Amino acid sequence: MVNYDYTTAVMGERPEVTLPNKEFLEQLTPKGFMDMINDFYSIVLDSEISHFFPDDEEEIEMIKKRNGSYFMMMCGGDDTYLKKYSGVFDQVKTHEMFSIPDKARIEWLHCWEQALKNIEDKVDHEHIQSYWNWLEVFSKHIVNYENDKKSHEDHAKS
Ligand code: HEM
Repeated sequence: MVNYDYTTAVMGERPEVTLPNKEFLEQLTPKGFMDMINDFYSIVLDSEISHFFPDDEEEIEMIKKRNGSYFMMMCGGDDTYLKKYSGVFDQVKTHEMFSIPDKARIEWLHCWEQALKNIEDKVDHEHIQSYWNWLEVFSKHIVNYENDKKSHEDHAKS
């Protein structure tokens, strides 16, 4: 069983992260990993936070590739992300141009929960758990907006 626990982010905190077990990627395989990323993005683009993402399909495909190769690297995969895409990754800077309150982070995690449930029959649950724990904690680093403040993205939505 996987515990999809949610804890609250405090704006500005940067808790220490533990990387996912490398067995997560080994059992899923790189192809399975990219399928999971595709699944995650179709869930996200149909969610409450879809307005954060571009409408253009080509742009979405690029983001999937970059995001997928970065996430795979974090799971012990190769460094395609560093070689092919942008070189360095700064979690805070990448997301700085968006106003991300904790409620958007929680919705983003809900999308991941669905995508991870779809691979529960492919990967040992302890490894899915390690991936979830990493996502849940690392995503706290990018919360940069108060929950009750109306953001640019909220205005764009309404
Ligand atoms: C563990 C947490 C997260 C990690 C490691 C992460 C990582 C990434 C990476 C690697 C990219 C691609 C950057 C590139 O183009 O090279 C990206 C893009 C993006 N992320 Fe995150 N992300 C996280 C959480 C979130 C959350 C919680 C949101 C909330 C809404 C979010 C919103 C976005 C958006 C909107 C983009 C697209 C940027 C664009 O339009 O180019 N991310 N993220």
